[in-house]
Amino acid sequence: MKTLAALDVETVRADFPILGRTVHGRPLVYLDSAASSQKPRAVIDAITDYLSTHHANVHRGAHELSVEATDAYEDARAKVARFAGAGSPEEIVFTRGTTEAINLVAYAWGQSLAAGDEIVLTVMEHHSNLVPWQLLAGRTGARIKYATLTPEGRLDLDHLASLIGSATKLVGVTHVSNTLGVMNPVAEIAALAHEAGALCLVDGAQAAPHGAVDVQAAGCDFYAFSAHKMCGPTGIGALWGRLEELDAMPPFQGGGEMISEVRLEGSTWAPVPHKFEAGTPAIAEAVGFGAAVDYLEEVGLDAIRAHEADITRYALGRLAELDGLRIVGPTEDRPGVVSFTYGDIHPHDLATILDRRGVAIRAGHHCNQPLMDYLGVDATARASFYLYTSRAEIDTLIQALLVARDLFGGFA
Ligand SMILES: Cc1ncc(COP(=O)(O)O)c(C=O)c1O
Repeated sequence: MKTLAALDVETVRADFPILGRTVHGRPLVYLDSAASSQKPRAVIDAITDYLSTHHANVHRGAHELSVEATDAYEDARAKVARFAGAGSPEEIVFTRGTTEAINLVAYAWGQSLAAGDEIVLTVMEHHSNLVPWQLLAGRTGARIKYATLTPEGRLDLDHLASLIGSATKLVGVTHVSNTLGVMNPVAEIAALAHEAGALCLVDGAQAAPHGAVDVQAAGCDFYAFSAHKMCGPTGIGALWGRLEELDAMPPFQGGGEMISEVRLEGSTWAPVPHKFEAGTPAIAEAVGFGAAVDYLEEVGLDAIRAHEADITRYALGRLAELDGLRIVGPTEDRPGVVSFTYGDIHPHDLATILDRRGVAIRAGHHCNQPLMDYLGVDATARASFYLYTSRAEIDTLIQALLVARDLFGGFA
């Protein structure tokens, strides 16, 4: 059996130019990768090389540059398809990100919904997997039901199952929560949806960066993710969909690229995935997405997962040493995202104090307002880790938190 090489964090860090910079005169400690990850040199170089030597519009020209650009764009699609475990590249639609991917499904697939139909979501969904369904419900009269959590902060599967019935048309769930850090059993949830004759959409924005995407194992019908959270550029992401579902759906937007024939009387559509990619696509960004997939695979997805598990365990252990620090959500099995409150310091104040010490964390509702309401908090602080996060950075976080506590005169 091949033994896995462990990830050498210092070697990985050397691949990310930005990690060498300082912030407010101190070395950057970037603990906000769940919002957006940093980019390795390989991705930056791939985009520069594409723009410097191959760029033209895709799928249109007979000239050499257009052929090269089309090859680069479609090659990126094939890489993303392989990464996600898709049956074929046609099942990957390039979108602007997770948000647009979910909007695409809610708009195009959602056109078949009517009053009386139901969509089942969970209270831990990111606004991206809530608002598009609320808009759809507003258009069609469909109803949304929300599954709640267990006292530990995991999805209450019994409650979810009790909401799914003959009126359910779609179950939408996040694979990994961007606040609670929990990983949901998507295969089990997809099976529950299918038993009721419904489809299942998985928001994979926080799972894909950790190499957890296998759409076949997930058993779902749609899977959405963003490149910028997995070492790729902003402005590009992917929707994986089962071919028969994508084929059956009407287009999302109209324009060039997505048509077969256009007559004044009406038009016909290109085959998937192009039916859903109206207009000139984000070609350089797609190339960067492909390079990000190459990079993550080269470092090794198992090694990345093992490193993140180790760092997260270490962080949870060190945070537990601090009086007044409360972890929001479960204290184990969190893939790289740790939310917390600290005494009576508002998370925004905390983030500002930490920033002065070079430590970048996130504070706020994390686009999870309904979850915050459910938990009875208005905001949390969130530190998130990735393949380049070191134990020394966690130690710096802890020191900075102690400084914040002293600035606030300790806790009562
Ligand atoms: C769970 C989850 N879903 C969806 C999104 C939206 O992703 P994007 O802004 O890349 O479309 C995010 C981003 O933070 C997220 O964490």
